[in-house]
Amino acid sequence: MRVYRCRLCGDPYIGNAPPTHCPFCGAPIEFMVPAEEWVDENRGVELSERSRKNLEEALELELTNAGFYRAAMEKSKNDYFKGMFKALSKVESEHASIICKLLGINKPEIPVIEASDNDLENVKESFERESRAIKFYTKSAQEAVEERVKEVFTALVNIESTHLLLDEETGKMFR
Ligand SMILES: [Fe+2]
Ligand SMILES: [Fe+2]
Repeated sequence: MRVYRCRLCGDPYIGNAPPTHCPFCGAPIEFMVPAEEWVDENRGVELSERSRKNLEEALELELTNAGFYRAAMEKSKNDYFKGMFKALSKVESEHASIICKLLGINKPEIPVIEASDNDLENVKESFERESRAIKFYTKSAQEAVEERVKEVFTALVNIESTHLLLDEETGKMFR
């Protein structure tokens, strides 16, 4: 047994091998490093005005998406969807935490957001929300002059893209 830590979110994981994806933020295995080698890359980053603005907008997206998934989980009567929306809510909440660390602020409460009673409707809304985030993070990565901010936005684009795949696979399973 050993401890690994995620280079994106910083959370620790105990196991015999690193997980294929960070269980907290969804970053791929490349981000998992032995805990003794880990350094906090989210603290003390000098931010340009543009990056600060983009991170503030990204924080809003992550918080509202986390709130949406929480509502979708609470509304669902199906254990598969409850599990899926719970996992997504936790991942988006972790993304909000990463952004708060970069901004050097305390994490705000996750807002209460409306969700449908219909699981597949919520999957559709998930697809729209993730697509919006991907578009904004792609632009934000391009605009970032800081190595770290560029890296974080690029990683978020990749993670949110895996959520689109999940939505598609789920849609097929339950059609
Ligand atoms: Fe992570
Ligand atoms: Fe996210």
